[in-house]
Order: sequence, then C-alpha cells, then structure tokens
Amino acid sequence: MSTIIVSGAATAGLRERFRAHGLKQKTVVLFDTNTRKLFGEKLLSAMKAEGFTVLELTVPSRENSKSFSTAFKLYGRMIEAGVDRSWNLLAVGGGVVGDLGGFIAASYYRGIPVIQLPTTLLAMTDSSIGGKVAVNHPLGKNLIGFFHLPELVLIDPSYLRTLPAREIYSGLSEVVKYGFIADRAMFERLDEHFEEVTALEEPYLTEAVRRSAEIKEAVVEADFREMSGLRATLNFGHTFAHGLEKLADYRFIRHGEAVTIGMACALSLSNHLGYLDEASLERGLALIRKFRFPRGLVEKRFLSIEAPVLLENMLSDKKKLDSRLRFVLLRALGEAFLLEEDVEDREVLRAIESAKDFFRNPRSC
Ligand SMILES: NC(=O)c1ccc[n+]([C@@H]2O[C@H](COP(=O)([O-])OP(=O)(O)OC[C@H]3O[C@@H](n4cnc5c(N)ncnc54)[C@H](O)[C@@H]3O)[C@@H](O)[C@H]2O)c1
Repeated sequence: MSTIIVSGAATAGLRERFRAHGLKQKTVVLFDTNTRKLFGEKLLSAMKAEGFTVLELTVPSRENSKSFSTAFKLYGRMIEAGVDRSWNLLAVGGGVVGDLGGFIAASYYRGIPVIQLPTTLLAMTDSSIGGKVAVNHPLGKNLIGFFHLPELVLIDPSYLRTLPAREIYSGLSEVVKYGFIADRAMFERLDEHFEEVTALEEPYLTEAVRRSAEIKEAVVEADFREMSGLRATLNFGHTFAHGLEKLADYRFIRHGEAVTIGMACALSLSNHLGYLDEASLERGLALIRKFRFPRGLVEKRFLSIEAPVLLENMLSDKKKLDSRLRFVLLRALGEAFLLEEDVEDREVLRAIESAKDFFRNPRSC
C-alpha cells in the first residue's frame, strides 16, 4: 500500500523522503492555477535547492481539466522534455489535480510512480488515498481510469488555511462519513468539536484528517478492487448524491454538499428499513445539522427537486448499464453495510421526503 504521512512537516526534506522510497529526483510537478499560485514558488524552489530536476505543469483549476484531451497535451509536454520511466509525478492540488496526475502517471510510459500532495480537505481525506485515478468522459464522470496506488501521500493540514469555507464544508462531509460508517468514537469527537474542525483548529483538524486517512487506507487495503462490498461502504450517501450532482450538471453543487444531503437520505432509509434505531437517526441528523451551506442555496435546490425526479436521476446511469441502485446503510453509528437486496422505489422516495422535511425545518427533526 502507500505510505501516508500526516504532519506539518510532510513536505519538508523531500529529497530524503523520495530516496527512502526508491524514488528518483526527477519529478513532474503538476498544479492547477490556484495551487501553483499558492504553493508553487516555495515548493519548487525547495525542490530545486535539494537537487531535483523538475518539469512544472499547470492546468486550469476546473473539473473539466480532468479530461483525456488535457492528459494528451501534458503527455506531449513530458515527451518533449525527455521524461521517461525514471521520473515520477507529484500532484499538488485537490481531487482534480490528484485524479488527473494519477491518470497520467498510470498511463505514461506504461506507468511511472505518483506522489500525492493533497491541498483540499476532500483530497487529504479521500481522493488522494486508495489509487483510484481517472479522467471524465462526456458520457460520465470518472469513467476512464486505473487503479494506480500512490507511492507516497504527503498531507500537511496547514495547506488548508487558504481554502474557502465552502470547500472546507464540502471536504468535511467525507470526514463525517468515516465516523458514520466505521468509527463511533470519531463520530462522537466530530460531533463535539465540529466548530473547531471547521475553524481548522489543532489538534482537532489533524486528528480528523489522520483518522479519515487511516480508515480510507484500511478499507482500501481490505478490498482494493471493490469485490467484497467493504470498499463500497465508502459510498454512504453517494447513491443519492450522484442523482443530485447529475441534476445540477456537476456544476452548481459541490460533491461534498451532495454527499451531506445524501447522508441524510441514507440515514432515513436505514431507519425506515428497520436497521437503524430512532435515537441513532436523531444523533446522525444532529451532526448533519451543523453543516453550513452557502446562503442556504444547496438546501433550497434540494427542496425544489421532486423526489421522483431525483430517483430518476439516481437511476439514469444504472439503466444504461442495466444495473440497479445499491444502497449503503447503517446498522448503528459507526457501522455500515452494503445492502444486497433491492429497495422498493417507494422506500427510496420516502427517505428523500424525510430528508426534505429535515432540511425544510432542521430544528424540528
Ligand atoms: N479518486 C478518488 O477516489 C476520488 C474520491 C472523491 C472525489 N474525487 C474527485 O475529486 C474531485 C474533486 O476534488 P476537490 O473537491 O478537491 O476539488 P478541486 O480539485 O477542484 O479543488 C477545489 C478548488 O480548490 C482550489 N484549491 C485547492 N487547494 C487549495 C488551497 N489549499 N487553498 C485554496 N484553494 C485551493 C482548487 O484550485 C479548486 O478551485 C472530483 O473530480 C472528484 O471526482 C476522486
């Protein structure tokens, strides 16, 4: 598996870190325009001072940089610069840069090592870990890709200080998800220190990031290719979220925002189907209540969607693939499972309606 370092010193002494992992000092460093501006000078000058040979590449900071055409252009830059299999690639950014960088590393010269330096909360706790790398296709997100584990994941939570609040909340939904699916104590701690984590206060922030990374890594290690159903539990709330993202054309809602709403739906479904008791449902929703969306827009968008329309959008890709919806449910706070049986549409609709009631009037639920 990968070596994951969570520390304020994660990016110090890169030469030694690379050497210890058998990585050469010839490195393609991939940024997006924001991470280049924020972290580029300091990182590149430190690397050059340590004797690295560097090819610097920057892509626009937007989801559609995760495309085959961008990758194709970057392969060209790398070939022209003489990058061969003795090089590696360091991806500095959020999930977009991490997924694109991982995709390029997995395919270039039949594969070169990738090192992830995640700079968003979502990337630190989710996308940089586990080796799923991909680009989008016009017919769907993340459809073209590989399993290509990073050699190293370098996580310095202080990189988050420049991240906008909306991105913090968005990443936090995946953090909370780990509490829901795998760790009751983490759930309790997040519930107690939610404000401190959102304010990036230590030690709460590093603790939350470290525990998330540990859980993701452990799940991936036990079920790398998603065969046993364990890795699928990472998709708690995501079946609903995908429908919401699709309806918003992947533009007007952040992934984490959709997951937050999706988790409220999944909690209700777990309760309605008799797996999760009422008290746990209430406690789960109480944590979700702490999320702040920009000007309430996300809730309004969700409330304006008819439940059957959301269900139709959750199903649309599945119909094309002739497959069915799969739901991750909770048996208790900290214990998730992938439900093997089909769920009747009316139960899915009922769960969406319950979540709508909750977001309509979060205090009363
Ligand atoms: N591979 C996986 O397992 C996996 C898992 C979840 C999500 N993803 C993918 O991750 C992507 C979303 O990632 P994301 O939410 O990190 O989005 P992102 O990469 O688009 O980053 C969000 C924004 O924050 C900016 N940014 C990054 N770091 C910053 C910093 N420290 N300070 C200020 N601004 C900063 C970026 O430039 C961008 O504008 C999606 O493409 C999704 O499919 C992949």
